[in-house]
Amino acid sequence: MCGVMLALLRRRYLDVLASVYVYNEHRGYTSIDRVIDAVVARHPEATAFIAKIRKHRDDEYKHYFMFQRYYGRILQMPLHVDRTCGQIDHMIQLSFGCSIDDLATGDIVADEAKFRKLCRVIALTEMRGLRQVERLRGNAWVRSDAILSRIFKIIEADEPSHFMPYLEWLAATGGTRMQLSERLADIFVHRFLLWVRLPLLFLNPALPRLKRWPDETEPLSHSAIAPI
Ligand SMILES: [Fe+2]
Ligand SMILES: [Fe+2]
Repeated sequence: MCGVMLALLRRRYLDVLASVYVYNEHRGYTSIDRVIDAVVARHPEATAFIAKIRKHRDDEYKHYFMFQRYYGRILQMPLHVDRTCGQIDHMIQLSFGCSIDDLATGDIVADEAKFRKLCRVIALTEMRGLRQVERLRGNAWVRSDAILSRIFKIIEADEPSHFMPYLEWLAATGGTRMQLSERLADIFVHRFLLWVRLPLLFLNPALPRLKRWPDETEPLSHSAIAPI
């Protein structure tokens, strides 16, 4: 009986975890698409920076696709997770006072101070993502799932190349020092998700599953996709 209960709890934990990643990876690459468009329009000369942001975008799509395949293998759809579980959603809301959808990316990239702020927010979010995935790789329930373990190993390897381009841009344009309010936002959002949102998802038996994948209406991606 105890073994069955433990198996159900493990299954639920991994399901919630993977569903939160599905949301965040999708939110990640679709948001970066808008950043790329704005940077290309404002700084077409920054070809190396743009190439690194494109690589970041393609990695996030690859991560999303790996979780999609994971759910394909276990013959389920992810749980319905919304932006209240989005790390970058909360960081943008706290830093810019609006949702990602309402963020005027073009205006922000055109304003050096605001663009530097956006780079700091993205870098902080990605650095947080690396610390989180490092912890998950040591988690016994994650380690007991061979596919998820492989996915998190790939994510861990990719993460440094996600925040480094923004730190390099910041270093070249005035320094990488984060503002106290941004650091506090990062800590607050992380704890809020970990201690409030995730337990609520875990304990909500009525949480529905997605009926369709969020990328179904998007044009086909040209990303390189890694097998898992
Ligand atoms: Fe990712
Ligand atoms: Fe990332």
